[in-house]
Amino acid sequence: MSKQTEWGPDAVEMLRDDHRRVHELFQEFDATTDEHDKKQLAETALLELQIHAALEEELFYPAARAVCENDALLDRAEEEHHIAKIVIHELEDRLNAARYVAKVTVLAESVWRHIQEEEALLFPVVRESGLDLQALGRAMAVRRQELLADLEGSPWGTRIRDMGTAALVATLAIGSGLLYWVATIGRRQTRTTKRRSSAKPTKQSTTAKHAKQHA
Ligand SMILES: [Fe+2]
Ligand SMILES: [Fe+2]
Repeated sequence: MSKQTEWGPDAVEMLRDDHRRVHELFQEFDATTDEHDKKQLAETALLELQIHAALEEELFYPAARAVCENDALLDRAEEEHHIAKIVIHELEDRLNAARYVAKVTVLAESVWRHIQEEEALLFPVVRESGLDLQALGRAMAVRRQELLADLEGSPWGTRIRDMGTAALVATLAIGSGLLYWVATIGRRQTRTTKRRSSAKPTKQSTTAKHAKQHA
């Protein structure tokens, strides 16, 4: 359960909630023998995973890169996302989804390892960095709403909206969340420009800048 404050869960707690929810869906998938339930559980888990991955890649990972010295850890995390997306794409393409149950099971195992690594190695570093996780959480809640809106009209969108606890804080998040998002995009563009010129930003200076932005 999230550490609820007047603003809702922070970014790390939000991602942990996603992890628990996806893990439970995969456990239910493994436990049921009903073919229809199995397919619905898998499809819900896949969409949850895609929304979660988008939130991490667009918002959480860029913020984490600014404060985490271990670039290899984040490189590996993004590569694991990439591999998972390939499998998800195969599962979505029913014609090519041979060995559907086996494929979902292997994906679930891979996702669980990825979750454990994030929670054991990445989240503690981010939490101790001084990053404004409440502001980041609000930005992620706004982005989640946008991703859910993209699914409007789909039965899976309704299902995920009902399950997503983070969506409950979206209304409160709009003002400061959007401001934070703009700031994040600006920093990402700055980092990209610096990388192109082979001038890697120092973690300390970026962190200090970030703290100043959200003081
Ligand atoms: Fe991840
Ligand atoms: Fe994650």
